[in-house]
Amino acid sequence: MATMEKNIIPVRDGDFNLADYEKTAADFKWEDAEKEFDWYRTGKVNLAHEAVDRHADSYRKNKVALYYRDANRSEAYTYDQMKRITNKAANVLKANSTLEKGDRLFIFMPRSPELYFALLGGLKLGTIVGPLFEAFMEGAVYDRLDDSEAKAIVTTPELLDRIPADRLPKLEKIFVVGEGVEETDQIVDFNKEMEKASHRFETVWLDKEDGSVLHYTSGSTGRPKGVMHVQYAMVQQLQTARWVLDLKEEDIYWCTADPGWVTGTAYGIFGPMLNGATSLILGGRFKTEDWYKAIEDYGVTVWYSAPTAFRMLMGAGNALIKEFDLSSLRHVLSVGEPLNPEVVKWGLEVFDRRIHDTWWMTETGAHMICNYGSMPIKPGSMGKPVPGIEAAIVDDRGNVLPPNSMGNLALKKGWPAMMRKIWNNPEKYDSYFLGDWYVSGDSAYMDEDGYFWFQGRVDDVIMTSGERVGPFEVESKLLEHPAIVEAGVIGKPDPVRGEIIKAFVALHDGYEPSDELKEDIRQFVKKGLAAHAAPREIEFKDKLPKTRSGKIMRRVLKAWELDLPTGDLSTMED
Ligand code: WTA
Repeated sequence: MATMEKNIIPVRDGDFNLADYEKTAADFKWEDAEKEFDWYRTGKVNLAHEAVDRHADSYRKNKVALYYRDANRSEAYTYDQMKRITNKAANVLKANSTLEKGDRLFIFMPRSPELYFALLGGLKLGTIVGPLFEAFMEGAVYDRLDDSEAKAIVTTPELLDRIPADRLPKLEKIFVVGEGVEETDQIVDFNKEMEKASHRFETVWLDKEDGSVLHYTSGSTGRPKGVMHVQYAMVQQLQTARWVLDLKEEDIYWCTADPGWVTGTAYGIFGPMLNGATSLILGGRFKTEDWYKAIEDYGVTVWYSAPTAFRMLMGAGNALIKEFDLSSLRHVLSVGEPLNPEVVKWGLEVFDRRIHDTWWMTETGAHMICNYGSMPIKPGSMGKPVPGIEAAIVDDRGNVLPPNSMGNLALKKGWPAMMRKIWNNPEKYDSYFLGDWYVSGDSAYMDEDGYFWFQGRVDDVIMTSGERVGPFEVESKLLEHPAIVEAGVIGKPDPVRGEIIKAFVALHDGYEPSDELKEDIRQFVKKGLAAHAAPREIEFKDKLPKTRSGKIMRRVLKAWELDLPTGDLSTMED
């Protein structure tokens, strides 16, 4: 692999030194982190400029920004190449649409270099970029494009027929990346246009508070909500990538998350690239051998993944690990779900590395509570608030509770990467706040040393294999099935996936429970919503527990399932 030699550049003066942490934390202000950006001097803001062009115009010009590998491709792109290619992408998007600053551009494709070109090109053009998981089916794609009034989308031939263009009057253009694209008034062959495009582009300058990324995420009620982040989030993303990911100049960094999830943008693209780091991107599906092989082949030093992935690797056995040289690993991190102490122990045993848990949310836009730097790890704890972040456990009225009390995990509002709105839904946005506190929806406690311990979700949001699934969305889809009259969905604890989705359904008259019907229902959700949203377990019931106002009582379903006390049933209809 000739293209793969590493560009080793020594750590520069002024790079964050972990030994300085205690000193830094005490008097750190987010404004201190602004000085590194070009906009600090020029006043001209653009996230993609800071992530790509700033390095291309520096000593990092020929440093590799991205390595990409899948079954068919193995490529490397320097910062200088990234600058030119993302300029081309911005030109292609601009020349073939009326896209301009603030318009919504969606990216709906599996991980490939082109995903990163299109996303960063869209940012250079000043659009707000909405990344979508390739697993989304038509209904999920429709909801997001419709709600945000997307003007354009970049996709692949395989995913094209999941975009219901005829029902999306605001959707002007569909850019298709791949072979054999039949062009129409609406459909543009992205690669063909890339060949013709100039590698020079006049970056569109923005305001710090202008939108950057729009991530749709699930709540316990309502449709998925569009969480909008702004350009200024880059301040926290740059700084936390240094403190928490511990990125150094010579690192080879691998974030296993897809950009359809906030981890895949904030720490799969922006955090590392704002630091001028070298990232590995692995395409294709999860396969234990491929993952270990990638660490060995690329000499991965910093590895950011999720508990579900670690548990799957654990499940594959430790014998396999001995077949690979994983000694390059220096810093290992986890996000998305509670990191079990057993997994931390396993990490110590097999990699001889501590797995650092990190807690944050789509809404927070960047790391909040983490095991960062060289602080001692308490297995099972999420760590402590990073410098510049104030966290507390509050009661339902926003009063701060003393150590070791269970309550709502809350954050003092005003951190740089905080979402700035929920698209089209100001009431929902306001509902997150209690006075000065942003209330996360997680319950937790803080111990006497200031470490936070996750206890669960306050609402009914399901975490399956690290994916956040709103029960309401799944229930709504179930109700579209001709056989189903009532549906309630819960997360059921699972040793590998964290939780699996279990659905309770009542059938219309004339339908009988059967295994075929279960399978049909599963396929229906899979095709209509997404594979990861399809219930793994389905149970037929004559009737579901409901409140008098008709809301399905998921906590009663959960209590039945787990053999727990059902609690207060005073609001339940007879
Ligand atoms: C959960 C993820 C326990 C939590 C970046 C949170 C975690 C939700 C952890 C956000 C962790 C995330 N330990 N639970 N380290 N990290 N969560 O928006 O319930 O997909 O509220 O973003 O994941 O999920 P989201």
